Formats: sequence, structure tokens, C-alpha cells
Amino acid sequence: MTEAAAVTEAAANIGVVGLAVMGANLARNLASREGNTVAVLNRSPERTDALVAEHPEAGFVPARTFDQFAASLARPRTAIIMVQAGAATDAVIDALVEVFEPGDIIVDGGNAFFPDTIRRERAVRETGINFVGAGISGGEEGALLGPSIMPGGSDEAWTTLGPILTSIAAVADGEPCVTHIGHDGAGHFVKMVHNGIEYADMQLIAEAYDLIRRGTGKSPAEIADVFAEWNRGELESYLIEITAEVLRQMDADTGRPLVDVILDQAGAKGTGAWTVQTALSLGVPVSGIAEATFARSLSSHPEQRAAAAQLPGPDEAFAPDDEAAFIEDVRQALYASKIVAYSQGFDEIRAGAAEYDWRIDLGAVSRIWRAGCIIRAQFLGRIAEAYAEQPELPLLMSAPYFAEALSRGQAAWRRVVIAATAAGIPAPAFSSSLAYYDGLRAERLPAALIQGQRDFFGAHSYRRVDRAGTFHTLWSGDRSEVQL
Ligand code: 6PG
Repeated sequence: MTEAAAVTEAAANIGVVGLAVMGANLARNLASREGNTVAVLNRSPERTDALVAEHPEAGFVPARTFDQFAASLARPRTAIIMVQAGAATDAVIDALVEVFEPGDIIVDGGNAFFPDTIRRERAVRETGINFVGAGISGGEEGALLGPSIMPGGSDEAWTTLGPILTSIAAVADGEPCVTHIGHDGAGHFVKMVHNGIEYADMQLIAEAYDLIRRGTGKSPAEIADVFAEWNRGELESYLIEITAEVLRQMDADTGRPLVDVILDQAGAKGTGAWTVQTALSLGVPVSGIAEATFARSLSSHPEQRAAAAQLPGPDEAFAPDDEAAFIEDVRQALYASKIVAYSQGFDEIRAGAAEYDWRIDLGAVSRIWRAGCIIRAQFLGRIAEAYAEQPELPLLMSAPYFAEALSRGQAAWRRVVIAATAAGIPAPAFSSSLAYYDGLRAERLPAALIQGQRDFFGAHSYRRVDRAGTFHTLWSGDRSEVQL
């Protein structure tokens, strides 16, 4: 052990590895809470030095090497990794495993794909060290002031980690926004779905903005007022709030609204795509989330957009007779579609829990999303109430509060989708959410015809509505039916 390590031995109860903005802010948040002393380590020591110099009040215990870092932590050593998801995470885990001991805890606080977390947890467990994948939401500000935290991992790890994470989490109605989600990859799974819902929420808001702008000719600043007004009602949420701010922003260079000078190609780091890929494997229709993810992809193909620009649209200009009524319709369509997006997301969590044998409390998930995270909203309180009333709720949107909201909003929702379609304004998330709603509530679906087709070309068989058993029609013979 080096001299420097000896000096700092066992001074800290928690460590952070990776001091880019999220890591640095999380470390500062930890340090600001009573009882925490925080060890910090970064690949380039300059960043560590800068953080320690800029925040003397934090009382950080800086380390230059993994050996020093381990020596500075009290047992069980607990370290949160805040580096880029992927190879960098694996490299840091390997380095920590070298210097940690059985019983110690390694937490990955990045946006890892949950199968990676399952793999890592299994590998690290072999050494006797605990590995916890923890989803952390709230962006830079959340990391500093109080994020919503979704930890997976073992019960043993949670015993030590619980109080530390509770100390830094956001608080909603007196309740900390952190809960032990479930074992191994459960935390990152839930964070993944959170991000999928985030994609849907953002796309729905974007579609609402586009419809209002193209339907009424209002300026972005005027539409900002509409969103600010909406934020005082049932749509109250962080994303609606920041939408008003973004729309109000003017570009200093050109004097134009900033939203008009930002290139209209949406980026994505992958969590939305993971949500959809996973849902496809689980057989869960998250169509709103999928459309939101695809809408980002569509926007990011300028060559295809240029090629399609010459294709015809409708002849008539889009001009609703009653602007105020149209805006209210859009608000209701947004709320109804949002209910669908959350219902789909919670459905995916339920299916994931069944598949991976996690005991995920959906009510607890909705409660920890009420504050700190990007999708925080008044709405999450309603979801919490729905699960409190009926923990085994099979479909969130069928809970009384949401069923009532949908029945109130569905006529407006249909008018908006019709208007968008007639005007040639893309509203993929609005319309796919409505199709999902109508699909689920339909008494009969054309799936019966699909079964007939499958049986025709591949003898895939079908079941009947009036008799038990599996059947096949002899399509290339006398077309009689046989029971299999
Ligand atoms: C959060 C955010 C955060 C990040 C997203 C952005 O919960 O704090 O979701 O994780 O902002 O990864 O994702 P995209 O770059 O894919 O939009």
C-alpha cells in the first residue's frame, strides 16, 4: 500500500469512479448529505484535482489509483461507476474486482443494457463481490440535487446501499424516489423502460406542437404559452414544463426562435431501441414507444427525406374552424396517448419481471418516478393510486381513473388523428396509440384471418371459438377440417 493510500485509509463510506458531469454531480450530491464521505477517482487525475479544488466544501477523498481508491473506502467498500456504458464499464469493473474483497459492492450507475448487467452480476458474484446495476434518472441536475434511482442487485447489497442511495434521491410527498427494484438486471431493465416512455412522451409532445403550429400558425412563443397553461392541469410534468422553455427560447445569432434553427434530426443513444427490441422478444406491444423511436430514426435520414420531398400530400390547406377547440382536442389527444404509452411501458415491466423472475412492485416503480426523473409528472401519482387499489392490474389503462380519462378524451383523440391524416401531418405516436386502444377494446380482431392464412400456406393450425382443440383445414384437398 502506498503512503498516500495509508493516509486516506477507510475514510470514505462511498466512492465514485468517473467524474464527467453526471459522476461529478452525483459525487457532490453524496458529499452534501449528512454522514457521507466520498472517495473519487477518474481515469485522468486532472479532472479529480479540478473537482476537489472546485468543491472544497465536499471534503472529497481523492484517489489516483484503484489501489488508493480501495484503501480509502470503509468495508463493505461501496463504489458507484459513472462511466460510459459498454467497454469502459467493463474495464472499471475489472479494475475494481482486482482491489475489492468479498462482501464489497460495485454499482454501475450508467445506462447499461440489462442483459449486460445480468452477465456482469453473474461474473462478479463468482468473486463474492456484489454487483448492482442501478438506473439513475434526472440528468445532470437530478444527479446533483436528487435523482430517481432504480437499483437492482442482491438483498445483501441493498442493505448497505439502501441508506446511501436514499440519502441522495429525490423526494416525492415525503417518500424517497428509490426502491430495490429486484435482483441482477431488474434496475437497468426498469430504467430502460423509463427511457422508452420518455421517448414516447417527448414524441407525443412534439406531435402536439407540430399540429398546433401547422394548424393555427401560432409562433413557438405563443405555443409555449399553451404548454405553460397545460402544465397547470392534468398534463403537469417536467417534459411539458421544459417544452415551454425550449419553445420560448430565441436564437441570439439570427433573432429567430431557437426551435427553428435547430436541425430537425433527433439523436438517440439506444435506450429507446432497447426498450422496443426487448418488447418484441417479450411479445409486448409497445407501439407508441416504437413509433417514437422510429420517428427519431426517420428524422435522421436526410437523403431519404430529400428523395420523398417531391411526393404529393393533400391539396387542401389545414385550417381548423375553431382554433381554441382544436388546441383543446390536441391536449386531450396528448393525454390519452400518454396514458397508452405508460400503460404499454408498465406492461413491458410486468412481462420482463415474469420472464426474468423479478418481483417488481409496479406501484413502487410509479412512486419513485414521481420526482427526480425525466418523466416525472402529476400523472405518476395516479398510476401509483391505480396499483395501490389493484396491485395485479392486468392493463394500466383499464384502471378506473384512466378508463374514465380515455372515455372523456377519445372523441377529441379521433378528431385530431383524422385532422392530422387529412392534412398530411405525421402524428405516428398519436395514431398508433389510438390504434392500440381500439385494437385492445375490439370484440373481434382480424387475427382470425391471419390464422386462416397461416393455416393455408403452412398448416400452422388454428383454434375455434366454439370447440376446444387444434384444427387444420385441408386447403389443397377437399377443404374439410381435421382436428389435430
Ligand atoms: C434520464 C435520461 C438520461 C438521458 C437519456 C437520453 O433518465 O436521466 O433518460 O438517461 O438523458 O439517455 O437518451 P437519448 O440520448 O437516447 O435521447
